[in-house]
Amino acid sequence: KGGKDQLIIDAGQKHFGTTMCKSCGMIYTASNPEDEMQHLQYHHRFLEGIKYVGWKRERVVAEFWDGKIVLVLPQDPSYAIKKVEDVQELVDLELGFHQVVPMCPNKTKTFLFIDEKRVVGCLIAEPIKQAFRVLSEPNATKECSRAWRCSDVPEPAVCGISRIWVYRLKRRKRIARRLVDTVRNCFMFGCFLSTNEIAFSDPTPDGKLFATKYCNT
Ligand code: ACO
Ligand code: ZN
Repeated sequence: KGGKDQLIIDAGQKHFGTTMCKSCGMIYTASNPEDEMQHLQYHHRFLEGIKYVGWKRERVVAEFWDGKIVLVLPQDPSYAIKKVEDVQELVDLELGFHQVVPMCPNKTKTFLFIDEKRVVGCLIAEPIKQAFRVLSEPNATKECSRAWRCSDVPEPAVCGISRIWVYRLKRRKRIARRLVDTVRNCFMFGCFLSTNEIAFSDPTPDGKLFATKYCNT
């Protein structure tokens, strides 16, 4: 009896189930040609986008046993900027964000977490003057909404994190945490920013869980 049930479940999965690609992380339906085509396109773009060969005089701002963090500034050579743009595009594709023009593009700082020859994490920070605290909503469901309720009292802040992203297969290895630690240390010369001085803009559910844990709020 049990064997028969199992057979039905397996058959169902093969036919209707979704697969997660082990290299690009995309979840798609392998049995659907359109989905498969879309996956192939994304797959190539993704692998090309996160490939990192490195460059002369890269600005290494932190080193770890499993990688390093490189800072890219707006005045850097075009190949560095191009890499940042490629990564940001992939991140926006994954998050479903539309192109957001940074408020002061010439002041943006991008931190890339590099593992061997790949970009596995990215944090984009920009100077801000104020932020609005996200109010906790005890009855809100965790998954559904991106519209968190915010306080309408502005609080002073220094650094806005407009994007934080970690490669799907490298999550929960403290890469995001190390990126934020590094930003706090490098954003303003000579001081370590407190968690009150940094703000996450428009957080996703993942981003909010991380930020809450990171800031201990
Ligand atoms: N669910 C619950 N807790 C989480 C999650 C999660 N998805 N992600 C992080 N945390 C908490 C955990 O407590 C974790 O510590 P633990 O693993 O010891 O329990 C702690 O935060 C630190 O997590 P890290 O390992 O440093 O986080 P990670 O490297 O996995 O990156 C990130 C987190 C960036 C949110 C990642 O999940 C991601 O890229 N998600 C998709 C992109 C995204 O949504 N980015 C945020 C957009 S909002 C914005 O950009 C401002
Ligand atoms: Zn893939």
